[in-house]
Amino acid sequence: MGVTKIGVLTSGGDSPGMNAAIRAVVRSAMFYKLEVVGVYKGYKGLVNADFVPMNSKSVSKIINLGGTILQTSRCMEFMTPEGRKQAYENMKKEGIDALVVIGGDGSFRGAKALFEEFGVPVVGIPATIDNDIFGTDFTIGFDTAINTAIDAIDKIRDTAMSHNNIFFVEVMGRHSGAIALSTGMATGAEVTLIPEVEQDIDSLCNYLKIERRKNKTSGIIVVAEGSPLGSAEEVAAKVKERIPEYDTRISILGHIQRGGSPSCNDRVLASLLGYDAVCALLDGKKGVMIGQVNNKTAYVPLSDACSKHNPIDKSIYEITKILSV
Ligand code: F6P
Repeated sequence: MGVTKIGVLTSGGDSPGMNAAIRAVVRSAMFYKLEVVGVYKGYKGLVNADFVPMNSKSVSKIINLGGTILQTSRCMEFMTPEGRKQAYENMKKEGIDALVVIGGDGSFRGAKALFEEFGVPVVGIPATIDNDIFGTDFTIGFDTAINTAIDAIDKIRDTAMSHNNIFFVEVMGRHSGAIALSTGMATGAEVTLIPEVEQDIDSLCNYLKIERRKNKTSGIIVVAEGSPLGSAEEVAAKVKERIPEYDTRISILGHIQRGGSPSCNDRVLASLLGYDAVCALLDGKKGVMIGQVNNKTAYVPLSDACSKHNPIDKSIYEITKILSV
């Protein structure tokens, strides 16, 4: 029997554009005469049968909103076999015969388990500000997050220049340097520290001293939260210890990077992936994530999407260094 009733949920850290993706899933399903049930708070809502019927109206005027109207969570119970069994029973009782999971790699591990253990047709949509998901050039939310970050760093630059400060600005990304890499290049940061490139504190300090000799009296150092040299606070302390005359400041951008109205790119990406996800289920595809590679739809096995990572483009790192002299 084909798909008749789709469940849709958002899981893990929220990202701008999740609402646009929910809207696209609901409206595409309506177009193809399918029923849709929203699941509140990610997998927690599956375990607790926290469902809401959705229609075209339920998703009107949300395309421009950050966050997720369905809310999200990181659910421990769903990580246990008992929790997943309960989730599956609740889905069956509700008549949900396919599921769209909007989230990151952790969310896809849950989706893969539902697919493998119970045969539920599941399709994933990559949404995380970290842009670290294998099989897609971009994840929903990344574009908005980097634009939020560059807006903040441009402002920090103004005050850094006025006071001759060296600013250590920490951006999010967990184990990925993608946010740092793009914001570092886009703000003309003097240095960008990312997890994917080994750096040592002495070379960093030597570089800063050379910069100073060239009469650069202020600077921005973008620190990815997964930087091997430590957090922005730790790197700043190490630099201050070695070059006490520097007037260092720290700014941790934090969760502002996860909020706000999604950019045009994120709204468009979310809309296309949401539509493609429903079409994929109707075509009988299951256990896949829908991504985009070179602007074309890509179908990626969930097992790859949740175990591999999207490598960063190291040439961006090298070119940023060349341009920041
Ligand atoms: O995965 C998205 C993300 O914002 C990461 O960049 C960050 O490391 C993490 O989530 C923070 O999560 P939480 O809000 O649960 O601390």
